[in-house]
Amino acid sequence: MGLIYTIANQKGGVGKTTSTINLGAFLAHYGKNVLLVDIDPQANATSSLGIDKKNIAGGTYEAILEENNIRDYILHNPKLKLSILPASPDLAGAEIELVNEVGRETLLKRKLLPLAEEYDYILVDCPPSLGLLTLNGLVAAVNGILIPVQCEYLAMEGLGDLVSTIERVRRVISPDLIIRGVILTMFDTRTNLANDVVLEVKKHFEEQVFNTIVPRSIRLAEAPSYGIPISLYSPGSIGANAYQELAKEILLGDGHQLPEV
Ligand SMILES: Nc1ncnc2c1ncn2[C@@H]1O[C@H](COP(=O)(O)OP(=O)(O)O)[C@@H](O)[C@H]1O
Ligand SMILES: [Mg+2]
Repeated sequence: MGLIYTIANQKGGVGKTTSTINLGAFLAHYGKNVLLVDIDPQANATSSLGIDKKNIAGGTYEAILEENNIRDYILHNPKLKLSILPASPDLAGAEIELVNEVGRETLLKRKLLPLAEEYDYILVDCPPSLGLLTLNGLVAAVNGILIPVQCEYLAMEGLGDLVSTIERVRRVISPDLIIRGVILTMFDTRTNLANDVVLEVKKHFEEQVFNTIVPRSIRLAEAPSYGIPISLYSPGSIGANAYQELAKEILLGDGHQLPEV
């Protein structure tokens, strides 16, 4: 069975999408069969892979809110060896429509579980809110949640709300829900503040913080505009190296051997 991780933090701009795309790309680089799932109506993960959401037959919305076959909407990029369930335009209305659905928090999980037999890794990229879409993402996180935290002022703000939401989901729906790890992102070596944030986050989350820290790198910010992950856009750059190290850390933590590549 493959592993399902959800990348969540209700704060916007902390590196959720960047981490989803680039971690996914490096897991694929190590030979894993990876599916990215875009549940953010802003569709940044979708566009980061060069997909125009206006030109797709459907995506997450159709897969979870209509009785359709989720496989019909999965797009595969053979060059990247990555698959994605894109965010279609209708996803924008999902937050409201989900309210009236039976089992509304578990829709995504029920759709993704059968796919875990076909993929080694499924990474779910959440929107910047704690609404029903993110709740679906948290419930679907069978193997845990990845929380990107930006090494900036007020980094910890809001994490309490996220953690208590995770605890609530654990209590009510998914007793085994765990935080798989905290990813420190956009670390700027030139500032003392960034170091202070690292210490503060480590003090709070202890060994849950990944050893790999993702530096601030302009290359990481540029890659999406070319529709490719950093592994293709700028291999060997500091940002690429960081996500490669993170992928290794996760693979080893999950009990995989690292293949020679
Ligand atoms: N390590 C990094 N260095 C520089 N820019 C980054 C880095 N990580 C993300 N960014 C940029 O910061 C912005 C927000 O990142 P994003 O991954 O979209 O956050 P989120 O999905 O949490 O809203 C994007 O423009 C992205 O390209
Ligand atoms: Mg995003």
